Amino acid sequence: MIERIATKPYDDQKPGTSGLRKKVPHFKQENYVQNFLQAIFDTVGKGERETLVIGGDGRFFNRDVVAIAIRMAAANGYGRVIVGQGGILSTPAASNLIRKRGAAGGIVLSASHNPGGPKGDFGIKYNIENGGPAPERITSAIYKKTKAIGEYRIYSAPAPEFLTVGERSLGDMTVEVIDPVADYADLMEELFDFGKIRDLIASGFKVRFDAMHAVTGPYATEILENRLGAAEGSVVNGEPKEDFGGGHPDPNAVYAADLIEELMRDDGPDFGAASDGDGDRNLIVGRGIVVTPSDSLAVLAANAHLAPAYKKGIAGVARSMPTSQAVDRVAKKLGIGAYETPTGWKYFGNLLDAGKVTICGEESAGTGSDHVREKDGVWAVLLWLNILAERHESVKAIIESHWSEFGRTFYQRHDFEEIDTDKAEGLMESLRDRLASMAGQRFGSLVVSEADDFSYKDPVDGSVATGQGVRIVFSGGARIVYRLSGTGTAGATLRVYIERYESDPAKHTQDPGEALAELISIADSVGEIKKRTGRSEPDVIT
Ligand code: G6P
Ligand code: ZN
Repeated sequence: MIERIATKPYDDQKPGTSGLRKKVPHFKQENYVQNFLQAIFDTVGKGERETLVIGGDGRFFNRDVVAIAIRMAAANGYGRVIVGQGGILSTPAASNLIRKRGAAGGIVLSASHNPGGPKGDFGIKYNIENGGPAPERITSAIYKKTKAIGEYRIYSAPAPEFLTVGERSLGDMTVEVIDPVADYADLMEELFDFGKIRDLIASGFKVRFDAMHAVTGPYATEILENRLGAAEGSVVNGEPKEDFGGGHPDPNAVYAADLIEELMRDDGPDFGAASDGDGDRNLIVGRGIVVTPSDSLAVLAANAHLAPAYKKGIAGVARSMPTSQAVDRVAKKLGIGAYETPTGWKYFGNLLDAGKVTICGEESAGTGSDHVREKDGVWAVLLWLNILAERHESVKAIIESHWSEFGRTFYQRHDFEEIDTDKAEGLMESLRDRLASMAGQRFGSLVVSEADDFSYKDPVDGSVATGQGVRIVFSGGARIVYRLSGTGTAGATLRVYIERYESDPAKHTQDPGEALAELISIADSVGEIKKRTGRSEPDVIT
């Protein structure tokens, strides 16, 4: 029986960079989950009997919300839900299923790289029929509905169990519980030359993949160990846990320090990688070198043709604005388009759908292609392995030859976390107020050539996004970018992105901190970071 339950709106259900993210206790408020899901269904409900994909990264509260989503889908007219066994689906696997099964969309439960557990973070995101995150016009319509909601619809019976694979029903709706890994692993096998990668591994090439107790454990074990022959134990922390083993499932130098340490040993593995809570981010480490996400994007774009899926070449590339301009130089050489979008994978969707770009990436450790409409951590690992299998060089050699061919873009991101929201907004506002007078000003040895607040007009549908980050560009192309994170759940996080291009190979071995020292100090004085926030050092440098 379909029940209609009266409810009162919450005023804080505005989706951020990637869906609605809050602490678990916040989500546990009365009807908080139900309100948001009903607002999604009211916004996207197009017709009867459609298919909906449901799954998440397995964090604390995941199963409860999967059960609620199944009951509400049955009450909102869906004909079928496809649910990952145990409620598990990595974000790219969910995107693949939506596309493969012709679903109307998907409910993806994750707070990505944020910690989990009873006091940790949770998140709900809606993906549309192309498999990608809902664009702004849909997320703002959802937000509007949340502010006026009066009731939600839910099926009175409990959700059928989803711990075992099989078909069940709830009212008129079919509940199809599937193996979360199989379809995704098959897709990877279509894209890449598994035979060549298998040969590389069989020749003694050692791989270490840190799943950080998050969702990619089963995916990486099936693909790397079972299908590609990596030794048992190559996947570490491979058992997904509701609280990620108490860790922070963000594959960066701070939280994946163990992996990096292993790879810095002379007798360590040849290739190291890690992914985040929901499997869409990646970290790539070669022996003796940590690859920055912006460089990884550039190298993947330059070498993608070595993998079967991209052997005809790529149509174009896209990067988020704060991502370094290294990939632009590759695009220029290949004679293909390069697009600069606001932060957030949702901005790549139209470009991918229109065939304007094949590969996209972000400084925040996301890389992906037109095979799905999300960034994809395991995909990035496999494209790297396919390239390594073809080139027979080390990761370090590939990076260094890339720099000597294209020049090196030194890059760092400085994060100042949990700043008082008013102070962070004041800092940004003050920067915006000073933009008009900035061009021509000299700071140390550098002169500002242009300064603006980034806005983006989507070349496919003409939609416009404004206020996407303050850019200060210096003559010679060095850049400082300031923006506030849209994914945090406590206070504000100020991100400062700093980059400088160096064409002289003799200077490519410099330490990034030194190469960027002058810009780092300019970033503090122009941004008035210490003055306004009291912080003299960032919490994290990536
Ligand atoms: C998520 C989004 C990315 C985005 C990242 C950082 O992972 O999917 O597209 O780049 O968050 O966003 P933030 O607003 O925190 O800088
Ligand atoms: Zn993620």
